[in-house]
Amino acid sequence: MTEQLIVENLVKYYPVKGGIIPHTVAQIKAVDGVSFTIEGGTTLGLVGESGCGKSTIGRQIVALEKPTSGSIIFDGEDITNLSSDQLQKKRTRLQMVFQDPYSSLNPRKKVFHILADPMIHHHICTKEDAPAKVDELLDMVGLHRSAKDRFPHEFSGGQRQRIGIARALALNPSLIVLDEPVSALDVSIQAQILNLLKDLKTKLGLTYLFIGHGLGAVRYISDRIAVMYMGKIVEMADADTLFSHPLHPYTKALRDAAPVPDPTLRDAVHEALSGEVGSVMDIPVGCRFQNRCPYARPECGSVEMALIEAEPGHFVACPYTAINTQGVSGTSTMSGTQFMADTQSVSGSDKSDTSNSDRQEKGGAAHV
Ligand SMILES: Nc1ncnc2c1ncn2[C@@H]1O[C@H](COP(=O)(O)OP(=O)(O)O)[C@@H](O)[C@H]1O
Ligand code: SF4
Ligand SMILES: [Mg+2]
Repeated sequence: MTEQLIVENLVKYYPVKGGIIPHTVAQIKAVDGVSFTIEGGTTLGLVGESGCGKSTIGRQIVALEKPTSGSIIFDGEDITNLSSDQLQKKRTRLQMVFQDPYSSLNPRKKVFHILADPMIHHHICTKEDAPAKVDELLDMVGLHRSAKDRFPHEFSGGQRQRIGIARALALNPSLIVLDEPVSALDVSIQAQILNLLKDLKTKLGLTYLFIGHGLGAVRYISDRIAVMYMGKIVEMADADTLFSHPLHPYTKALRDAAPVPDPTLRDAVHEALSGEVGSVMDIPVGCRFQNRCPYARPECGSVEMALIEAEPGHFVACPYTAINTQGVSGTSTMSGTQFMADTQSVSGSDKSDTSNSDRQEKGGAAHV
């Protein structure tokens, strides 16, 4: 398989202005030297606490913003150097689905126009072909065709997210950044949307960057996972290895915070995170995790946070993992199947998205 996306040393700083004559007084180091690749047709999960820079990476990849430095090579071309015309063409191949579909869908447009207008604008279809294309998209995301005559507010959260996915699919993308697409949804609906995304990936050969703040859903959908902390990747490995054999203390804490259905496993290892996430405007020298790390030592104040390949394909940004692992027995694991059981896995047709919880969400009024 070939690498469809190569992100190299990506940096995004946001200037903070101050003073009587406004000038840059500080930098918010949202993303600070991040590198990873995604093979075509696979999913990379990007996980970490709020504010660590996940969405910022997503926005650079779909070219909503320009990075401070670094390169983003998509299908062999560095998109950070394209002219606006070239970028316009590439953009249709790179789409994003947002956490809150309601704020990302135009409330004044009916679903038909939300889906048809960009396709007509980008010459994906003609005005005449648009109704058939819209029906095809609604079928694909499991919504009834009558949905096209309604406004976004008439749908439940899960249904709105299906519209968000249909809108991303409308432009025939090959890579989709999914920015916490299930975080705002009821747990039973999360499973439906994750299943839909998995099915679409297989059917359409899509590549995903799946962003989440907890490991449960991320593990269920991802082939590989990268864990972020304060603008840096601290660990990266295939999904099963990362979950069952995490090396970085932060990944262990995230893993232990993921829901574990078996109560006997819940107390197994709880290296609960202590301390606050530091400020991205005041980043400590050395390891950024040192004020929360149970294994911190004086040398941690001067280490390079570079990823080291601890075992084939498994990278970690802590030189002391071998020492840290001694005496720590991480046993709380959760399989994808368990995640599905926990979220009331939905079998059969995924079409109506009208489970009880979703109906309750809109007082029973909003099914298609
Ligand atoms: N447009 C912006 N201007 C200034 N700061 C920003 C901007 N976007 C994000 N940030 C800051 O960058 C950091 C990373 O944000 P974000 O990528 O949204 O994190 P995450 O998605 O992991 O929650 C945060 O401190 C956030 O406040
Ligand atoms: S470098 Fe030190 S502070 Fe950072 S994760 Fe490793 S042991 Fe902990
Ligand atoms: Mg975010």
